[in-house]
Amino acid sequence: MDQLLSTEASAIPQVSKLIPHMSYGGDYNPEQWNENIWLEDARLMKEAGVNLVSLGIFSWVKIEPRDGEYDFSWLDRVIDILHAHDIGINLATATASTPAWFVRKYPDSLPVEADGTRLSFGSRQHYCPNHKPLLAYTEKLVRTIATRYKDHPALKMWHINNEYGCHVSRCYCDNCAAAFRTWLQERYGTIEELNARWGTRFWSQQYGEWEEIQPPRKAPTFCNPGQQLDYFRFMNDSLLNLYLTEKRILREITPAVPISTNFMDFFKPLDYFRWAKEVDVATWDSYPDPREGQPVRAAMMHDLMRSLRKGQPFFLMEQVTSQVNWRDINVNKAPGVMRLWSYSAIGHGGDGILFFQWRQSRAGAEKFHGGMIPHSNDENSRIYREVKALGQELKKLNGLIGARTPAKVAIIFDWENWWAVELDSKPHNDLPYVQRVAAYYNECFKRNIAVDFVQPSDDLTAYDIVIAPMLYMVKPGEAENLEGYVSGGGTLIVSYFSGIVDENDRFYPGEFPAPLRKLLGIQVEEFDPYPQGHANTVTYRGQAYGCSLWSDVIQLEGAEAVATYTGHWYAGRPAVTSHSSGSGNAVYIGTELDADCLGALLGEMLTTKGISAPLSAPEQVEVLQRDTEQNKHLLIINYNQEEVCLDLPENEDYVNLLTGERVSGSITVSGIDVAVLQY
Ligand code: GAL
Repeated sequence: MDQLLSTEASAIPQVSKLIPHMSYGGDYNPEQWNENIWLEDARLMKEAGVNLVSLGIFSWVKIEPRDGEYDFSWLDRVIDILHAHDIGINLATATASTPAWFVRKYPDSLPVEADGTRLSFGSRQHYCPNHKPLLAYTEKLVRTIATRYKDHPALKMWHINNEYGCHVSRCYCDNCAAAFRTWLQERYGTIEELNARWGTRFWSQQYGEWEEIQPPRKAPTFCNPGQQLDYFRFMNDSLLNLYLTEKRILREITPAVPISTNFMDFFKPLDYFRWAKEVDVATWDSYPDPREGQPVRAAMMHDLMRSLRKGQPFFLMEQVTSQVNWRDINVNKAPGVMRLWSYSAIGHGGDGILFFQWRQSRAGAEKFHGGMIPHSNDENSRIYREVKALGQELKKLNGLIGARTPAKVAIIFDWENWWAVELDSKPHNDLPYVQRVAAYYNECFKRNIAVDFVQPSDDLTAYDIVIAPMLYMVKPGEAENLEGYVSGGGTLIVSYFSGIVDENDRFYPGEFPAPLRKLLGIQVEEFDPYPQGHANTVTYRGQAYGCSLWSDVIQLEGAEAVATYTGHWYAGRPAVTSHSSGSGNAVYIGTELDADCLGALLGEMLTTKGISAPLSAPEQVEVLQRDTEQNKHLLIINYNQEEVCLDLPENEDYVNLLTGERVSGSITVSGIDVAVLQY
């Protein structure tokens, strides 16, 4: 596995150069329909401005109907039809679901859950990533497909598998147990080292031989945290290994064709920072609930996707035109909403807008899931009309391709920390990491301040403010990196329950937050987690605010108190502290401040650092900036029903790319509408 897990050094395809226009389209599953509709599909796609479709994602059995027997005749015809209509293909490797004949031949390819239940065939994604014949069959299929279509001019991108880990992110079968032991041996070398890392002296868990080690299957109570954490890592690597097995073949046969696989919304099992090193473009599938109004979480995810590859634009690989089928109640998107959400993706750094799926299915589990064209083929449907209008409109935005988002604020987001901090047996067992991150993100989002996401070991010098929410796990070198950032002039904000454990979930020796204690100039003497309904108050700049969930009892060791608790036995003790170090500043927030307090605190820091929104805007209006070498762009997205008017800086002339009008002084944007200003 190690050999495959290395990132490549050679030149990788530049997506924005190879696809120099806004990509628009969706998943296309022609095998669900009779052939006589394919020409009609292509005609309607062309009319809708579609220029890219993801083809063949679930087509393994159609391509290989029997073991070793391939049928490409139908796919040849589909691809030729699409090409004749100038529609490019994001060709799938068709490995997302193994065929029934494969499962019959290899029943041990079916994944096993932690309680020993083996899952069955009949839905999708039913495979164990460490099943050797699966890897061999995958390699053969991918090589055959790549060899067949390598020179086809319609081939624009490769789509490996689909949403890795979506339904089965961890398998606990015997194949995985054996592979886990090998993985551990490579990681720790000796069984003594493993015992030390996992702290197996506790509860008589010590291992004498590698063969004694099992995955963290269902056990009487909490499994060893080090074992659980390593199983997260191992499964992430197992799925990545499967991806890389395919990627290696595609790169060998088609070195110039970009490769990707689609990511999902804050998907805990896969470390997307690690995965992003292995895709040529980050792509993701976004399905906010229309009841949300303004989809902040999706915006945060867009920013994460853009950050995964250091600012390189991403593709929104899937969204739904209106309704999904998998929530309890599947609300539809009101007219105009799909367009606004698409522009939000573009504003946050998207160079492609695609849907699941082109044509709504007639049968199967997703027949109630919306498509770009309804199953009835109604060209006059509201949905298709909106799809068509957007596709035509996006042609005006080709100048944005490759454009970057300037950001001065970064939030640390770290998957291994996420895995560790949400393991069981903590002082507070309901502190979702993503929610803690979102609390900080939301304050920036409300103010239209661009945010990048970074890892704790990244070079942070480009940012004026770096926020580390709940950085429970601090890995080797990370504390030093944060110290260097602060002493060089940066402002670092660290929140409670940070600096607690090393990479094996063992406490650092000494007082909390041990590795960050000197930098923050504090000591955390005690944690005080609050049950639901309990809260406290703090005073900040003479004003009272609420706080909840958790409070640290803090002792100052060089830092000064910025806010103090006003309740409980530690009233008067610091709740928020600030410590100067070098030419920078390290702020510690020891409790879950309410949004008003966090907003006031962050607002003050942004002002001090001179960080402001590109334009001042009313509530529910996003203003997003994207710059190319030639031009700057402002995307103004109005989620309100009523029109809004925004002042523009003097001495600057703009062109609204959507209307072609010249704009200066101010701009009025109608309710549920958008403007894209170039200057
Ligand atoms: C995605 C998946 C698609 C389709 C879609 C429905 O997770 O990649 O194949 O199932 O969801 O929303």
